[in-house]
Amino acid sequence: MSDFKVITGPQGGRIILDGREMINMAANNYLGLANHPAVVGAAKAALDEYGLGAGAARGIVGNFRPHEELEEKLAAFKGVPAVSIFNSGLTANLGVIPLIIGKDDDVFSDELNHASIIDGIRLSKANVHAFPHMDMTALEEMLKESEAENKLIVTDAVFSMDGDLAPVPEIVELGKKYNAKVMIDDAHGDGVMGPHGRGTVDHFGVRDGVYVETGSLSKGFGCAGGFVAGSAELIDRVNKQARTFIFTATPEQVCMASAAIAAIDLLEESDELVRKLWDNREYFLEKIRALGYDTRTTQTPIIPVMTYDEEKAQKLSAELFENGVFAQSIAYPVVPKGQARLRVMVSAAHSREDLDAAIMGFKAAGKALGII
Ligand SMILES: Cc1ncc(COP(=O)(O)O)c(C=O)c1O
Repeated sequence: MSDFKVITGPQGGRIILDGREMINMAANNYLGLANHPAVVGAAKAALDEYGLGAGAARGIVGNFRPHEELEEKLAAFKGVPAVSIFNSGLTANLGVIPLIIGKDDDVFSDELNHASIIDGIRLSKANVHAFPHMDMTALEEMLKESEAENKLIVTDAVFSMDGDLAPVPEIVELGKKYNAKVMIDDAHGDGVMGPHGRGTVDHFGVRDGVYVETGSLSKGFGCAGGFVAGSAELIDRVNKQARTFIFTATPEQVCMASAAIAAIDLLEESDELVRKLWDNREYFLEKIRALGYDTRTTQTPIIPVMTYDEEKAQKLSAELFENGVFAQSIAYPVVPKGQARLRVMVSAAHSREDLDAAIMGFKAAGKALGII
């Protein structure tokens, strides 16, 4: 038994949480695909066709047609030569980083990078140079001093707690100037950034300067799983050597692979959901800022509503819950001390009524607690 809140019924703009209907401002289900009929239908059809368990690792007899098809689709969607799928974004990072860098190499990592990047670096045993968040001057100084032959710069594309965007073009330039490989984790950019949600690298038009990209299927795509995207040579090495790929029976569940194929097909066909996500984001952001909340410098549908004080963040989340709105409070160690906040997530699954009701909830809760 956990002390987590329990959701009954599907993920969506509204959910049943601990038995109460809530406006859901906490999920990474950016496009509402977690409960989209085409995506759920594809998973059901795959269950009928392939059954449930994969029965073996991909390299033995667990390589099903949907795995191959998903990798081909993702590679075309992302505009890369090849892709390898994993059972999560977390295991994609853990698996690929130690293949790119090792003991005598230097890795340059934004201090706010996701935990799975930090742990992938630990596994690699490379020398870590954590640069202050998005500080390109500091990064350049570190690169200048590096004598390592093999260098890697790694960053989240969209930072998951602040919703700000890494300066990917500048990072690519520095990579070229100092002969460092560039790795981008676009877990929160896929389905969100760029035309048809092809991601942040596409948004900035810097595909050529990125050596490897990792992503998640659990957020914009509404499914579960992760992937590594890169050159055919790198992906071949991933398939043969990445420990979190080869030592697991199901790098990706067969029915999930089929669901993810359907999600990509939807994105290829139309950018309507991506546009709705951004329209909703503009609508909500303007209104929450007008209430007087501090939302920092977000550039995406991840909106940090800052309280700085941890107790205040918890109280605001609890008061919102009483008002029928669920927004998760986040504190140390997920964010630095004194930087507590609600992490508010806008989705294409929200109707305007949902967003208006959420704003009413924020108004009532913020006034009751003297935050606004
Ligand atoms: C930047 C980043 N990378 C990787 C992950 C892990 O993705 P997954 O949920 O597929 O394990 C996340 C999600 O928490 C993330 O925010």
